[in-house]
Amino acid sequence: MKYSPWSQEQALLLLATLREEKGPVLMALQLIQKEFGYVDPACVELIANFFNKSRAEVHGVLTFYHDLRTTPPAEHQISICVAEACQAVGARSLEKEVKAKFGDETKDAYCFGNCALGPAAMVDGKIIGRATLAKIEKARQ
Ligand code: FES
Repeated sequence: MKYSPWSQEQALLLLATLREEKGPVLMALQLIQKEFGYVDPACVELIANFFNKSRAEVHGVLTFYHDLRTTPPAEHQISICVAEACQAVGARSLEKEVKAKFGDETKDAYCFGNCALGPAAMVDGKIIGRATLAKIEKARQ
């Protein structure tokens, strides 16, 4: 996935699109991450000031949701579903194979709603059914 380089000016333009929203902090953090790939620590104060919230409130939302990152992501992002239905069809052994090969890029996830085609994986936002190491390697290219 390609992201824009961090820019406070660009971040402010994105925040302005949420000015009329109720409870905009989570949406702001998601929007920032979608644009830049992560939430730069400078965004906490930026979002707090923009929406008249405390830094603690913004920091609390940022640290509560595990999908929000505060550091730039790896080049590719791989998630392996390790919920029950996928575990029943080999997700844990797939997870070990993928983590051994791709390390930091890989994280656990809990159900993509693709249970009938387990084990399920996601590579750079694309769901893969009946996932294998070979399918994941191909999706990374
Ligand atoms: S349990 Fe893996 S996609 Fe639902």
